[in-house]
Formats: sequence, C-alpha cells, structure tokens
Amino acid sequence: MEDRTIYEMIGGESTIRKIVETFYLIVQKNPMIGPLFPEDITPVMEKQYLFLTQFFGGPPLYSEQYGHPMMRARHIPFEITKERADAWLICMKTALTQIDLDENLQSILLERLSGPAYHFINS
Ligand code: HEM
Repeated sequence: MEDRTIYEMIGGESTIRKIVETFYLIVQKNPMIGPLFPEDITPVMEKQYLFLTQFFGGPPLYSEQYGHPMMRARHIPFEITKERADAWLICMKTALTQIDLDENLQSILLERLSGPAYHFINS
C-alpha cells in the first residue's frame, strides 16, 4: 500500500502550482465553462491552489484562510450542468497531460476530482 498522500506523490507545491496555472488557461478558452469565470482569473487560481493542496492531502491551506470548504455551496451561484462538469474534468485532463504528469497519477487525480465535479451539478 502506498502510504504517501497524493500531494506527496505528485510532487507537492510546485506541481499543484503548475496544474492550476495550466488548468485555468485551458478553462478560459473553453466555451462551455470559460464564460463563468471572471476576466482576472488570478484570485480564483490562488484559491484553487490552496484548495487542491488540502484536497490532495497537503497542508490545510484553504481552510486556514476561508474556513470550511463547503465547495458545493460555493458553486451554487453558478449554473453547473452535467455538460459543464464534464467540460471541467476534460480541461483538467488536458492540463495534467500538458504538464506531463504520470498517467497513473493522472487517473488517480481525475478519479478523485470527478466525485466533487458531479456532486456540484445544480442545474
Ligand atoms: C463541475 C464543474 C465546475 C464548474 C463549472 C466550476 C466553476 C467555478 C466558478 C465559476 C467558480 C467561481 C469563480 C469566481 O470566483 O468568480 C469556482 C470557484 C471554485 N471552484 Fe469550481 N467549478 C467546478 C468544479 C470544481 C471542482 C471539481 C473543484 C475542486 C474539487 C472546484 C474548486 C473550486 C474552488 C476551490 C473555487 C474557489 C472557491 C472560493 O471562492 O473560495 N470547482 N468554480
């Protein structure tokens, strides 16, 4: 059994940074979900960096700043359909491929993210 966290397995802070930076460039160009995001994406990237760090087993950076994640609730203002959840995950898959993350790790990350992505569907 692998007893390291996903955070450790993927290479910690620098990898999460790369994922987030690559992911939002792709998201911004995606016609299905790009328009939901503000033009200045930097604050969203920072929050996502804090959140994914914690979500993958690193230090609880998001909660230290923003309290309980309540991620489904935080997505309620946005119309999230099944198609948009799919698009979000495809953008993430593209980002993980672009940064050359190991394929087994890609599958683990996508599997872990697909739970919340489909759980956030609200429309
Ligand atoms: C299912 C498709 C998804 C869509 C369409 C979506 C869209 C959005 C949008 C529009 C925002 C707000 C941006 C702003 O501040 O104006 C946001 C925030 C955020 N999303 Fe998503 N999201 C999705 C899935 C996810 C998933 C799967 C995760 C992580 C597991 C996630 C993590 C976050 C985080 C951490 C924030 C910042 C929350 C905060 O304001 O503190 N999102 N998302």
